Amino acid sequence: MQKHIAVLPGDGIGPEVTEQALEVLKAVEQAFGHQFSYTHALVGAAAIDATGNPFPPETEQACREADAILFGAIGHPKYDNDPKAKVRPEQGLLAMRRKLGLFANLRPVQSYPALSDMSPLKNDRLEGVDLVVFRELTGGIYFGEPRGRSENGESAFDTCLYSKAEIERIAKLAFEAAQRRRKKLTLVDKANVLATSRLWRETVKAMAPAYPDVTLDFMFVDNAAMKLIQQPAYFDVIVTENMFGDILTDEASVITGSLGMLPSASVGDQVALFEPIHGSYPEAAGQSRANPMAAILSAAMLLEYAFGMAEESQAINQAVEQVLAEGFLTEDLNRTNPQTTQAVGSRIAALVKESVAAKN
Ligand code: IPM
Ligand code: MN
Repeated sequence: MQKHIAVLPGDGIGPEVTEQALEVLKAVEQAFGHQFSYTHALVGAAAIDATGNPFPPETEQACREADAILFGAIGHPKYDNDPKAKVRPEQGLLAMRRKLGLFANLRPVQSYPALSDMSPLKNDRLEGVDLVVFRELTGGIYFGEPRGRSENGESAFDTCLYSKAEIERIAKLAFEAAQRRRKKLTLVDKANVLATSRLWRETVKAMAPAYPDVTLDFMFVDNAAMKLIQQPAYFDVIVTENMFGDILTDEASVITGSLGMLPSASVGDQVALFEPIHGSYPEAAGQSRANPMAAILSAAMLLEYAFGMAEESQAINQAVEQVLAEGFLTEDLNRTNPQTTQAVGSRIAALVKESVAAKN
């Protein structure tokens, strides 16, 4: 199948982990007889340095013309301690989400038995952890207007705003995902305090009769934060607003044992974007120490969700599990005998090719 991928490596460790994801995609092309084409484009600090804009029009164009987007990471420390910086790399990420209409962010979290000792949670709590968070990505307090400082500068304000339509379109995806999974959906909100949360509850409740096979429950976000640690296996599909989702997915990510394992997908009306959730990790940039697995698993998500290539995606997932079992891992997962980013990527690519050769 001829498919086109926009590749946005971005900042920090983004380029090196994305390169390994591309290695693995090339292995898939070879092993399964596909042909993908790739357009590289700038985003984040890399794009500010080159053009002054963290999401330049050429990059937007490349994204719109692609069948899927593979994204690395955004962020650079030189902007973090400068509250006066006029453009920030993160604005590129927010602009990209908004302009491409990527309204739902899917963040799956599963426990890998091979990593159970790396998790901060006790082993018995990890059993059966397999959840996915549907985080709303283009609304809420991240984008609501008005926002800013009062005239005398002594106060500041943000606006949390949601429409029914914004809630319905992501809730629909979450209900449908629950139907394909263990048929349980939890809406996380703060309906005891916030008007937007009450609208979320009312809207999602009204949709429930259309999904009679799905059990819907509601949880306040503070309670959900606790439950994620006490009993993470309780959850199947979680749906929540932008900022709650941001916070809860970072929390959920440590359950696995390494942030370096978690892929994500951002979907909307058109092209979908796939990215590791670990961010740019500038301290490790260019040192070949970053775990490429989250980027590689994001490529697996891309194949399944954007191209409908379930078997190809599965081949990558299995190769990752095998490498985990072998202990052939970067320093975040193997302190005594760490491998490089490139070595782990190449090993996974080789296993993908081997698994297919073995079948033929
Ligand atoms: C994420 C990040 C972003 C967010 C930042 C970098 C703007 O934390 O993708 O979760 O808050 O959405
Ligand atoms: Mn975040």
